[in-house]
Amino acid sequence: MEIIVSTSKGSVIKIRNFEMPDIRRVMEIEEESFLDGESELYIEMYEEWPEGFLVAEKEDKVIGFVVVVLTPEGEGRVFALAVDSQYRGEGVGRTLLKAAFGVLRKRKIGYMRLEVRVSNQIAQRLYRSMGFMEIGFVPFYYKDAEGAIVMRKVL
Ligand SMILES: CC(C)(COP(=O)(O)OP(=O)(O)OC[C@H]1O[C@@H](n2cnc3c(N)ncnc32)[C@H](O)[C@@H]1OP(=O)(O)O)[C@@H](O)C(=O)NCCC(=O)NCCS
Repeated sequence: MEIIVSTSKGSVIKIRNFEMPDIRRVMEIEEESFLDGESELYIEMYEEWPEGFLVAEKEDKVIGFVVVVLTPEGEGRVFALAVDSQYRGEGVGRTLLKAAFGVLRKRKIGYMRLEVRVSNQIAQRLYRSMGFMEIGFVPFYYKDAEGAIVMRKVL
């Protein structure tokens, strides 16, 4: 996919599928976002389901990404979502998520789920505003032992 969109905040960005040369920028953004992932894992996710890995680009620069995987239960799951800190608050995260909903709906997937840190109020607010509901809590989910709120949305 490749689409040019104006975000809810009026920023014009391109959403397209991840390509291998994007990995350096993706890892830069992920490291500054403290997501704890490794590039090998991202490449594995991409190879498993390329359609689920989208990037946002502004003026030819990758400024955010979302990685969605398919669970054995047949749901979509957000593996990672992050926006370059210099471009946050411009509606990029929301636009990336919406694009991911579209990819899943095309596949007739009915639900999307995710885990989010208890302390990550900003992401929780974004997810709630997009229709995600809290369905559970997993203590000690993250490497540093913080718990995760599990959220799910009907697509
Ligand atoms: C979470 C994240 C992806 C949001 O991306 P973004 O492009 O800044 O988000 P958007 O501009 O699309 O904002 C969407 C909503 O998020 C919430 N939000 C964004 N920034 C916020 C802030 N500074 N304070 C409170 N809420 C905020 C709001 O609900 C906002 O909607 P609104 O502007 O209509 O009120 C981004 O903050 C990020 O990369 N964080 C670090 C990584 C991370 O936490 N990823 C999620 C892991 S589960």
